[in-house]
Amino acid sequence: KIISREVNKAGLIDIIGAAGGKNVHGEEVQKLDEFANSVIIKTMEHGGHLAGMASEEMDSFIKIDMQYPKGGYLLLFDPLDGSSNIDVNVSIGTIFSILRFSAGRELTEADFLRPGAEQAASGYILYGTSTMFVYTTGHGVHGFTLDPSVGEFLLSHENITTPGHGKIYSINEANTKHWFTGTSKYIERLKSPEKDYCARYIGSLVSDFHRNLLKGGVFLYPGDKKSKNGKLRLLYEANPLAFIVEQAGGAASSGDKRILDIIPQELHQKTPLIIGSKKNVDEAVTLWKEEGI
Ligand code: AHG
Ligand code: MN
Ligand code: MN
Repeated sequence: KIISREVNKAGLIDIIGAAGGKNVHGEEVQKLDEFANSVIIKTMEHGGHLAGMASEEMDSFIKIDMQYPKGGYLLLFDPLDGSSNIDVNVSIGTIFSILRFSAGRELTEADFLRPGAEQAASGYILYGTSTMFVYTTGHGVHGFTLDPSVGEFLLSHENITTPGHGKIYSINEANTKHWFTGTSKYIERLKSPEKDYCARYIGSLVSDFHRNLLKGGVFLYPGDKKSKNGKLRLLYEANPLAFIVEQAGGAASSGDKRILDIIPQELHQKTPLIIGSKKNVDEAVTLWKEEGI
């Protein structure tokens, strides 16, 4: 709710920031993604549920401070996804993943490096035309919409399921020049006259994902000749959304593996990502495999 409130007045803060970097009270205006990062840490560190946290915005994980009670979970998050869209009033979000941790022993980085299949819960908050909270604990996917007049998230999308096949594809086509043959052939196939696809790309993964989840389709951020593993992060982006999409009946793959089966080697590991309706993902993966990527 706090991040949503700040995101909703980002335009105002930017105007004030541009005038000298201070707000009306003379305080330093924080960049919104740093702000989101510290809000999540501050609101989650003292509740007694967590033993540690890892964020896309921090080099290494943090342990819950001595002064607070510790719990049996780890929180991993992307505090603001799609942050290049803040200044232009386009939907952004927060993505999170929760792992179990056996309390009573020293927390190490290895405790965060668990395959996505072991997530206890995951979800995202989308700061869109309305603010939505979507999550799974492995028992389906449920969506809540923030009603600002009462300050509560109300259940608006119970048991979200994604269509088995969809007509939307989402990929940054400016990267065509870097693509491997499998990606190029797949996208060309979608554009062929007998197909009836529609391209949609916001540039905020969480927003592109949410639209495709509800309408059906596929989002791709493949590995290419420039970046072998693409751009998206396994622990903060791919794993939580893969858990959601599978719970909604869809699929997520890196091209050669189910996302949730990847054993992470490091906190900020990247992975190619094909995610969305099951049939679309399967088609893309089959072609990628045929082309030997
Ligand atoms: P973040 O803002 O957390 O760094 O993530 C940005 C990501 C993701 O949201 C989006 O899908 C992707 O970057 C867009 O990348 P391109 O601009 O390369 O298409
Ligand atoms: Mn992101
Ligand atoms: Mn981010």
